[in-house]
Amino acid sequence: MSGSTGTAGPALPKTLSDAAVAVLGTAQPAAKVALTQRAAAAWALGEITELGSGIPPDRPERPARPALVPPREVPRRRIGPDPAGRIALLHAVAHIELNAIDLAWDLIARFGPAARAAGMPREFFDDWCRVAADEARHFALLGARLADLGAAYGDLPAHDGLWEAAQTTADDLLARLAVVPLVLEARGLDVTPGMIDKLRRAGDEASAEILEVIYREEITHVAAGERWFARLCRRQGRAPGVAWEALVGQHFKGVLKPPFNDEARRAAGMSPDVYGYFTDLGS
Ligand SMILES: [Fe+2]
Ligand SMILES: [Fe+2]
Repeated sequence: MSGSTGTAGPALPKTLSDAAVAVLGTAQPAAKVALTQRAAAAWALGEITELGSGIPPDRPERPARPALVPPREVPRRRIGPDPAGRIALLHAVAHIELNAIDLAWDLIARFGPAARAAGMPREFFDDWCRVAADEARHFALLGARLADLGAAYGDLPAHDGLWEAAQTTADDLLARLAVVPLVLEARGLDVTPGMIDKLRRAGDEASAEILEVIYREEITHVAAGERWFARLCRRQGRAPGVAWEALVGQHFKGVLKPPFNDEARRAAGMSPDVYGYFTDLGS
């Protein structure tokens, strides 16, 4: 099997759950990226066909750095010609992408068997493997750009908000989809165009282009969240909009901050009638 991919290194896990648990148990980002890309390709090529079952850890393994600190202690600097602000921005996005790799595999390992039992087809797993591979590529692009700027992932502190969202939705796939793709990744769609503009105004076209790739692909991640959330709701006889409001109210501690990027959210299949509900509550 490994002969067909020609890759060296440890044997390919036998099942998709084993692969997911192996990625989650890998601390070094470069190794996490490499195993993700190998496992996602093996699933797509039919070299791994079984879902299997595995127990994901409560927390994925991570490198010793970056230090995890409260969000207000994460450095933010003005985006300008001085690289410090751009490095801080790219570092923060890289940290999100590393979390996003683990979130995709955690979804597969934690919820895969129940999702299959609930009638989710192969395409459900195809989507989350593709998301994991995209996130790995996003992390790698940002890591390379940080290196161009004389920095590296781990140089600055980062916060743990994304994994906290994973832990508060560890018992319920619908809640996980409601919060991770449909609140947090959708929030990425709202804020990324502004980051791209700032990078361009600072003359950093290379960083802006990376964020454009990420932005386009994140629309497809939100779309996957929307599609499977709606499908699971319908199977349970629930109206997706009503269920989303209830689950976000229950599991998401933050606030949904307008302005929303209606165009990107619509492209991902999200309805302003649904997410606008929270704006109305907040106003
Ligand atoms: Fe990403
Ligand atoms: Fe994503």
